[in-house]
Amino acid sequence: MAPSIFISILVVAWALCIFMHATNMVIALDFEAKVLQKSKWWSSYSNDTSIHRCEWRGIECNDGRSVTELNINWFYISSNLITGTIPKELWNLKDLFELDLRNNTFVGPIPSALGLLTNLSLLDLSSNEINGSIVSEIGMLKNLLVLKLEHNKLTGPIPSSLGHLTSLRKLCLNSNQINSSIPLEIGNMKNLGL
Ligand SMILES: *[C@@H]1O[C@H](CO)[C@@H](O)[C@H](O)[C@H]1NC(C)=O
Ligand SMILES: *[C@@H]1O[C@H](CO)[C@@H](O)[C@H](O)[C@H]1NC(C)=O
Ligand SMILES: *[C@@H]1O[C@H](CO)[C@@H](O)[C@H](O)[C@H]1NC(C)=O
Ligand SMILES: *[C@@H]1O[C@H](CO)[C@@H](O)[C@H](O)[C@H]1NC(C)=O
Ligand SMILES: *[C@@H]1O[C@H](CO)[C@@H](O)[C@H](O)[C@H]1NC(C)=O
Repeated sequence: MAPSIFISILVVAWALCIFMHATNMVIALDFEAKVLQKSKWWSSYSNDTSIHRCEWRGIECNDGRSVTELNINWFYISSNLITGTIPKELWNLKDLFELDLRNNTFVGPIPSALGLLTNLSLLDLSSNEINGSIVSEIGMLKNLLVLKLEHNKLTGPIPSSLGHLTSLRKLCLNSNQINSSIPLEIGNMKNLGL
């Protein structure tokens, strides 16, 4: 093979690689847009394509323009509380490190798919009407620092998997109908400030 042909193959391969990387990013971003649109929480913005979703209220993004923070606790200011179940699509926003849905009127269970958001450091679902038991998948969120589930209608036992959250600093479960004792595994949470 002549060296020049070899080099051009390399260049084509390199260009293809860049192109595919860029396409992947576009797909990932469009996917995020769909997830956010499906929630209908930003319907006042979503028709206005001049405002990028990273500029929508309650959304923060990283440098790559992936959504890293969702904070919708401001809806009560406009007395426009969000109700219904927590949209399951949310759990596809894998770069999220803060998810704050507090003080709305979410009903239904904590989706077990939540365990996919392994980057989460803050999860606040407090002051809603979330029922069912605390799913053991919560134990997969190894980077959690703050877990707030208080003032809901949660029942049943506290899963022992909570003991996997060894970085946790703050845990609030009060004002629910949890009827079990605190699992011994909680002793693994060395950083917890009780
Ligand atoms: C955006 O469009 C949807 C349906 O296409 C509509 O229900 C909604 O009211 C629109 N929002 C604004 C702010 O125009
Ligand atoms: C988690 O965060 C790191 C950097 O903080 C990032 O590189 C990674 O893509 C994020 N997403 C997942 C799913 O780990
Ligand atoms: C929760 O929302 C209600 C309105 O629905 C508001 O009066 C209250 O101050 C909010 N509480 C917190 C802790 O944000
Ligand atoms: C949770 O509440 C919904 C209605 O808000 C009800 O249909 C469902 O049965 C409840 N689930 C549990 C486990 O209590
Ligand atoms: C705890 O509550 C669940 C359902 O809410 C029930 O099935 C279970 O028997 C209760 N356990 C105790 C020890 O009261």
